[in-house]
Amino acid sequence: MKIAVLVSGSGTNLQTLIEQLHQDETSGIDIAVVLSDRRKAYALTRAKRVGIPTHVVRTQDYENRLDFDAEISRVIEQYAVELIVLAGFMKLFQPPFVQKYRNRIINVHPTLLPAFPGAHPVADTLAYGVKIAGITVHFVDEDVDSGPIIAQSTVPVLDTDDEESLHNRIQVEEHKLYPQVIKWYAQGKLKIEGRKVIVKREN
Ligand code: GAR
Repeated sequence: MKIAVLVSGSGTNLQTLIEQLHQDETSGIDIAVVLSDRRKAYALTRAKRVGIPTHVVRTQDYENRLDFDAEISRVIEQYAVELIVLAGFMKLFQPPFVQKYRNRIINVHPTLLPAFPGAHPVADTLAYGVKIAGITVHFVDEDVDSGPIIAQSTVPVLDTDDEESLHNRIQVEEHKLYPQVIKWYAQGKLKIEGRKVIVKREN
């Protein structure tokens, strides 16, 4: 199965997808393209060094967000990908894009949704004082961090945590769960029933 990975930053999630899926022939998963909305995203370097094609599509180069989305769609179609994987991609899509790729866009968010959606999730988690943090992998719908939840994993918050230490602990879990969810998707194990996503397990 061909996937596109969309990034904005460092790309540690992309790195684990490269190592655990792309470079593992038994996974049957191929990262066909990495697309970034930032030229300087280090994730682009990670993709280039293993020969994965990269594209930069920036909002400021388009008149409006529909045109930005249309360019992303054009690139994705060029690579005939089945699944769009957001890995630290910090832009929101307009409804036509989400509708076109319904149930074919997934995201990883560094909180237990629906807690702390939005752009500063780890800072918001710490500021609220919760004792259990976590991560969520979900399908993308028209709203912010609100689509059907596929899988979640928990992480303790320590009294000594700052944003960096907590985010590092969260990322260890992201790097385990995100490749697993993509494998489930590729193996046809995810069944969506309204807001519920059932993971079909072997008996
Ligand atoms: C990840 O922790 C991911 O959960 C978060 O951005 C980070 C990207 O890290 N995504 C969001 O906050 C999306 N709302 P990475 O570039 O090292 O993979």
